[in-house]
Amino acid sequence: MAGSSPIVAGTRFVLKHQFSGFPKKEDFDFVEDPMPALKDGEILMDALFMSVDPYMRPYVMRLSPPFTMIGTGVYKVRESRDPDFPQGGIVVANVGWVKTAIVNSREIQKDAGGLRLIPNQMLTGISPSKLLGALGMPGNTAYFGFLELCKPKEGETVVVNGAAGAVGSLVGQIAKIKGCKVIGFAGTDEKCDWLTKELGFDKAYNYKTTSVDEALKDGAPNGVDCFFDNVGGVDATIVINNHMNTFGRISGCGAISVYNDKEPKMIPSIQALTTILPLLAPVNRPLNASGIFSKPSTTVSSVLIFPSLIHWAICMMPSIQRSNHRLTIKPSYRSCLKTIDP
Ligand SMILES: NC(=O)c1ccc[n+]([C@@H]2O[C@H](COP(=O)([O-])OP(=O)(O)OC[C@H]3O[C@@H](n4cnc5c(N)ncnc54)[C@H](OP(=O)(O)O)[C@@H]3O)[C@@H](O)[C@H]2O)c1
Repeated sequence: MAGSSPIVAGTRFVLKHQFSGFPKKEDFDFVEDPMPALKDGEILMDALFMSVDPYMRPYVMRLSPPFTMIGTGVYKVRESRDPDFPQGGIVVANVGWVKTAIVNSREIQKDAGGLRLIPNQMLTGISPSKLLGALGMPGNTAYFGFLELCKPKEGETVVVNGAAGAVGSLVGQIAKIKGCKVIGFAGTDEKCDWLTKELGFDKAYNYKTTSVDEALKDGAPNGVDCFFDNVGGVDATIVINNHMNTFGRISGCGAISVYNDKEPKMIPSIQALTTILPLLAPVNRPLNASGIFSKPSTTVSSVLIFPSLIHWAICMMPSIQRSNHRLTIKPSYRSCLKTIDP
């Protein structure tokens, strides 16, 4: 952790080796560094909340363990030798799964969004945990990924899967505000009840007990105009191939159904080919699909290599190729700093 890292020391979770299948407790070590006295420009902070997000699973595959597990957290400053981050201040820090950390605040700030002091007035009446949810990256993903890519219109039918998750539950609520008919898919009956009874979804189906095809014949007899896909895989393919209306819009947000696969489904060259082929196919039913990329700072090239977006494109392309759709895929970037600006 020491050396070139802006984290000077910490108590932290270290990923020992690459995951194989589902992540396990044994994949991590809890490491406690000696904590030296603070120097100028350093702060000591304690985690209030740490994020556990699906993107971490594919993202770490391109890193070399052991390393401090990636992630963003909400911290309270315990001691400070940087006047920009006073004692007691609440900060959002992209420093990984670090419970208590000494950080060089100026170094971290070089990475936009690496360390941000949150104004007190912004937190009045709300839990700081929201900074990792509705007011943070998942909220931005839902807001921009749905409104800008799906461009929903009143009266349209919207389908969202992973609907009871951080992103999906917000997408559905935003769609309701926009006057859409909203259909959600989730993995338990309790979640489905929560979606319809508390969040106002029009319909919610348990994808483990109801086929997506049958559900949409029932819930969306006139077809689907906007599809916000958090899941990828077979069920998403069914939505795209069997239920999308002409000029429908798809927001390819994630492919959580394949993140824990031990083997990739296809070899890379075939993946590349299947990405290009659909663009050459005859046009029958035009559709627009866009991948979302939400991160505090990025460049165009990192948009193109963001793992969950790649997963989505890889797992969806073969099926789309076989469909009648002409699909336009484009990356889209939104800074997730927007909603945490005062
Ligand atoms: N592109 C971006 O910038 C961006 C940003 C944020 C998130 N994402 C993506 O958005 C998706 C949702 O993220 P989130 O933060 O909302 O996650 P979350 O709150 O952790 O919710 C994820 C939910 O996905 C469902 N799920 C898991 N495995 C599944 C499977 N095999 N098939 C169907 N559903 C499954 C589970 O709910 P059930 O019990 O209902 O199955 C789980 O609770 C992920 O794919 C993530 O990578 C992308």
